[in-house]
Amino acid sequence: MKILVTGGAGFIGSHIVDEYISMGYDVTVVDNLSSGNQHFLNPKAKFEKMDICCDKIQELIGDEKFDIINHQAAQVNKEYSSENPIEDARINIIGSINLLQSAVKHKVEKIIVASDSSAIYGEQYYFPAHENHQKRPVVPAGISQYTVERYLSYYWNNFRLKSISFRYANVYGPRQKYDSNKGAIAIFCKKILAGEDVVVYGTGKQTRDFIFVEDVVSANVQAVTSSFNHEVLNIGTAIETSINDIISIIKEKANSDISIINEPSELYDEVRTCLDIKEAKAVLKWEPLCDLDEGIDLTVDYFKSLDNK
Ligand SMILES: NC(=O)c1ccc[n+]([C@@H]2O[C@H](COP(=O)([O-])OP(=O)(O)OC[C@H]3O[C@@H](n4cnc5c(N)ncnc54)[C@H](O)[C@@H]3O)[C@@H](O)[C@H]2O)c1
Repeated sequence: MKILVTGGAGFIGSHIVDEYISMGYDVTVVDNLSSGNQHFLNPKAKFEKMDICCDKIQELIGDEKFDIINHQAAQVNKEYSSENPIEDARINIIGSINLLQSAVKHKVEKIIVASDSSAIYGEQYYFPAHENHQKRPVVPAGISQYTVERYLSYYWNNFRLKSISFRYANVYGPRQKYDSNKGAIAIFCKKILAGEDVVVYGTGKQTRDFIFVEDVVSANVQAVTSSFNHEVLNIGTAIETSINDIISIIKEKANSDISIINEPSELYDEVRTCLDIKEAKAVLKWEPLCDLDEGIDLTVDYFKSLDNK
């Protein structure tokens, strides 16, 4: 099985690559390292430093004859997308179409695509949200990722290119970036372990559906062998946890008494998010196995190990 993983030097993509390699798949990574980390690259994967929008990727797909493309590369920053909507659309929409065109031309069997549930649903009006929940993206990054889903539907209807779009919940775990405004658990782990107070935007009562990265990986593993035509699936836990509760759990594990500093809510902060995952369970025979307690333990251990290096 030959698989191309785009964004394979990123947080989620690099974990997917590790698992695919351990399963014996022949993996090539395409990543331009714009937000990825070269140290996360699995040495057994072939690596092409390349932008998903460039023509060379079409040659690569033609030469390598991949069975599957797993597309994790994206412009993921919501604020950046508001300030730079053209660049966001270039990467997320044009880059994805570039892959889809090549996939059809070179007879790739299926494509697995990462997407962002909160950017697509916007403010939820019922909980947990089914895939049919109204789509109310409020930032260009949500509009662009939702647009890619429409293209996947087009490519299935017209060219029989099989696809899954995974609408991830809030993913956390080792390798998550902690130096941006995204990735609450990583940021809190890093701050709390350093003995620094944490800033919470809003009351901290806002909830998220937090899923451990290995559970996201297992969905991507199931997608390799499962049979499907064109699916859009939520990947989360269906459990809501507040930001305040997350901080309490990390403080307890780190034996810390740091304080929370509340600041006014950021522009694009949903009040509650939580995903219905029945469809993913049925289609993929998948379910999340790591509970929050265990997942945060593993994440805290990871950040401790970074501090010891
Ligand atoms: N992390 C989360 O909580 C979360 C939640 C919902 C959805 N997602 C989705 O999962 C996917 C992966 O996210 P992540 O958290 O691993 O982000 P990440 O930034 O760690 O990984 C993205 C990777 O794509 C690469 N990349 C970006 N633009 C590129 C381009 N033009 N050409 C080639 N490579 C490029 C980056 O260098 C990086 O390695 C994204 O589609 C994201 O929207 C993530």
